[in-house]
Amino acid sequence: MFEENDFVCRHMRMTKAEIIKVIREKNITSFDDLQDETDVATICGSCVADIEEILEEEIAKRDA
Ligand code: FES
Repeated sequence: MFEENDFVCRHMRMTKAEIIKVIREKNITSFDDLQDETDVATICGSCVADIEEILEEEIAKRDA
């Protein structure tokens, strides 16, 4: 599990908190949209699964 201030995508230097902020502010619903906004996971891709998990959690909260 990541803490808010942990880098999830270290190539784009994005923390969990920063990723969540973009997801909420831009009302992101897909990984592609998140990538368009932030360029996360565009270098090595090792962060994809972790970012997908954060995105899914946020979407689930939104739909709750
Ligand atoms: S850690 Fe996200 S692209 Fe490398």
